[in-house]
Parts: sequence; structure tokens; C-alpha cells
Amino acid sequence: MFGKRTQIGQENQPARPAIPAAPPATIAAPAQSAPLSGAASARPAPITTEFAPQKSEQYFHTKSMVFGAMIEAIDLSQLSKLDAVSARDELRDVITEILALKSVAMSIAEQEELLEDICNDVLGYGPLEPLLARDDIADIMVNGAEKTYIEVNGKIQLTNVRFRDNTQLMNICQRIVSQVGRRVDESSPICDARLPDGSRVNVIAPPLAIDGAALTIRKFKKDKLTLDQLTRFASISPEGAEVLKIIGRVRCNIVISGGTGSGKTTLLNCLTNYIDHDERVITCEDAAELQLQQPHVVRLETRPPNLEGTGAVTMRDLVKNCLRMRPERIIVGEVRGPEVFDLLQAMNTGHDGSMGTIHANSPRECLARMEAMIAMGGYSLPPKTVREMICSSIDVIVQAQRLRDGSRRITHITEVMGMEGDVIVTQDVFIYDITGEDANGRIIGQHRSTGIGKPRFWDRARYYGEDKRLAAALDAAETRSDKVA
Ligand SMILES: Nc1ncnc2c1ncn2[C@@H]1O[C@H](COP(=O)(O)OP(=O)(O)OP(=O)(O)O)[C@@H](O)[C@H]1O
Ligand SMILES: [Mg+2]
Repeated sequence: MFGKRTQIGQENQPARPAIPAAPPATIAAPAQSAPLSGAASARPAPITTEFAPQKSEQYFHTKSMVFGAMIEAIDLSQLSKLDAVSARDELRDVITEILALKSVAMSIAEQEELLEDICNDVLGYGPLEPLLARDDIADIMVNGAEKTYIEVNGKIQLTNVRFRDNTQLMNICQRIVSQVGRRVDESSPICDARLPDGSRVNVIAPPLAIDGAALTIRKFKKDKLTLDQLTRFASISPEGAEVLKIIGRVRCNIVISGGTGSGKTTLLNCLTNYIDHDERVITCEDAAELQLQQPHVVRLETRPPNLEGTGAVTMRDLVKNCLRMRPERIIVGEVRGPEVFDLLQAMNTGHDGSMGTIHANSPRECLARMEAMIAMGGYSLPPKTVREMICSSIDVIVQAQRLRDGSRRITHITEVMGMEGDVIVTQDVFIYDITGEDANGRIIGQHRSTGIGKPRFWDRARYYGEDKRLAAALDAAETRSDKVA
């Protein structure tokens, strides 16, 4: 049992620190008519109520009382030194004792719920815990203390999870980011971080976020999707998947293009499965999300500036440094700025088989984005030179898209062919045709080959002994497309 509390209000304690004297946060009563906003409003989504059956006022009152007594009874800073299981056990003991001492009348189930609630508030991520425990959630989006949305099966839903107030939400954000040595407050209100389980986190705090901190979590999937699973979900046809496996293996330079949440990182991760185990791979990411299975991988992560505004390490710094690390392949999680220049140069100078993702809505737009990003870097190269550089570096663009029914599809596998005058010429190898919509609003469509018998990466495939496999995949794709037609 812990002695009398000595300190309240310690920020930035070690791993999984206790939130300083955070009054009980809770899951709100089911939201009934909260309006959906932003992207969600475009797709009316069901409002989940499964997290918390409406709790009584009495429950909240008891929770406040027990919480207050517990803060008095224990030393939170001591608690934070224990491992998670022991700390939870200690807390449970204290709370059970308080309940007995105060003769609180509660059912066993209510007591259990109260114990869980308070433990989550003190040791975990408070109201986020039930969401973090669920494996079916792709994203958690907290828009200030009042509203939390989740994405399940491609659909955005409003939940009834609510934080007590914006201070508690900020405390939880701070706790999350301090675990990876970062901080978020008024003076540095934007922060990328990771949860211990690998989930990617972004926080933007007031005053930039007007209605309270916005916290976005891309939940880490323990079982990363594979190309075979994507085939089962109809994200790509079996033949298309086979072609992707081949281009991953034969060291094509690949850019994965797609909108936000379209499955770019998932696809990048899938393609890296086909990298040979003897290749030295270096990954550069803002928040490490990729899970390469190869033994010879160096993982690098960017760093934001410190309190004095110095010490930032940008993606560009990382990509440049990679070149001095004898990489065979460079994988850039997300190409967002001038680092595209360094990546293209690397692709061009013996690091073929490099890959990256870019936010763009079509392969054409992806090429334009790359051009724009090079211009952002301050290079005053003639547009034609830039395009020639892109052409000689990129072999294939794979386009991912999240369709309006929430499903994710690979909509294009496109080759970059070369230049005709000032224009980059591309050639689709596979495309996804949308043919209609079923009665449930699900999109119907199919992947089809465009009939290219010998793509530009054919010689490369032959060099790696994959030409027969490629020919078989392309033939099978054409036969299937003919049947469908
Ligand atoms: N083909 C797919 N079918 C079903 N779910 C998918 C598919 N591809 C990705 N997902 C899921 O969608 C979510 C978003 O995927 P991912 O992180 O790859 O997207 P992203 O395009 O990289 O997003 P961001 O732009 O935020 O970086 C993840 O939870 C992932 O498991
Ligand atoms: Mg991503």
C-alpha cells in the first residue's frame, strides 16, 4: 500500500506516468443527436452506443468521490514507478478498500466497471482505453473533449466516448507524446508520435486547434495485411497481386500514390515482403509504421525541433544520410517535400528497388506532385529536366483509393514510359473499372488488364528470372478480362 500522497501535478513522468490528479474522466452518456461534421457528414454514419450503457448520475458522483479519496490515499509518483500490472493491482486494492470503508452500495458489475474506469484514467489513456483495446478500429479521431470518431470497416462513426474536459484530453496527449521524448503544448502545438504498440499518433493542440486538442491515432494492426489478403478483400485481382509481387522483387522503383487513409502504407509494407533477405534496406519515416520482415533493415525516424527550435532532423536529412549508409534499397514512408529530389537521385544512382508513398489522387497527379515538391525545394531546374529526372527514376506508380463505400482498392498499376516532347508518357498495366453499385450501396467493379503484353519492366523481370511468371500473370489477367468483357 502506498503512503500519503506527496506530490500532485507532476507532468512528464516516466513511462506510463499517472495523470496528475486528473479528476475522473468518463465515457459519456450515449450521444443522441450530435451533428456529424467534416468528412463524416458526407457519409451519414451509424452512431455507436456499444461502449457504455447510460450510467447513472449516482455512478459519476461515486466515481468522483472514490477518485478524490484515492488521490488522498496514494502517492501517484510512486505508482508510476511500478510496472503496469502491479500498478493496476495496487490501485484496485486501494479502490476496493475505499469502497468498503465508505460503504458504497454498488453491484459487483458496477464496482468492476468503476475499478476499470479509474485504473484507465490513472494508468492508461483514460476514455481512449476501450477504443485502443479494439482490433477492428483503423483510426481514432478525437476532436476536442466532446467528440470522438472511429473508423471501422472503412466507415467513420461517432462514438459516445467523451473526455471530462480539454485539460484532461491535453494531459493524455502529453502523456502519449512524452513516451517518445516529445512534447505538445501551446508553444509547440503540433506533434507526431507513436504509442508503445506502434500506433501512429498526431496531436494538434490549441490555439491551433480551436475547439480543443485534435488527436488522431492510426491504430497499429498486429497482423499486417498481406497481398494475398488484399486479394481476398478484392482490393486487387490475383493476377494484379502477382504482378505487384514481381515488381517488388525485381527492384523496380515504385511510388505508391493515394489519398489519406487509402492504404498506401499497408501496400508499401506488402511490397517490402518481396525484397530478398540478403538486401540491405533503410527505411525513413516520420513515425515508424512499417514492419519489414527482412533481417538486414535499418529503421530511421525524423525528429522535430527541441524547445529552442533547434535539432530538427528532416526527412530530407535522413534520405541524404541514407546514401552514406550503403543502402541497397531506400524506403521512404511518406514523401512530402523536397526529399523527393534526393529519393529520385538515389533511385537513379544504383539504389533501384527504392519505394515511397505520395499523397495524390491519380498517377498523373502523383507525377505533378513530385514536380511541385522539387520546386518547393528551391531548385530552379527547367520543368523538362525535372520531368526527365522523374522519368528516369520511377518505374511504376501504384494507385490506392478508398472508395465512397469505404472499401479500399488498387485502382492503377501504371508504368512510367518516358518523355514525348515535354510530356511524361505513362501506360496503365492494370486498372479498376467501377461498373455500378449494389442494393446496399457497395461499389461493384473489377480489375482488368489493359492488354499490355510486355511492360517496360520486362527486361528487369528477365534479369531476375521472373519473366515466365510475369508472362503467366499477364496472360491470366488478359483471359480474365476477356471473360468479363
Ligand atoms: N485493402 C485494404 N482493405 C482493407 N483495409 C485496408 C486496406 N488497406 C489498408 N487498410 C486499412 O486501412 C487503414 C489505413 O491504411 P494505411 O495506413 O495503409 O493508409 P495510408 O494511405 O498510409 O494513410 P495515411 O495517408 O494516413 O498515411 C489501416 O487500418 C489498414 O489496415
Ligand atoms: Mg500512411
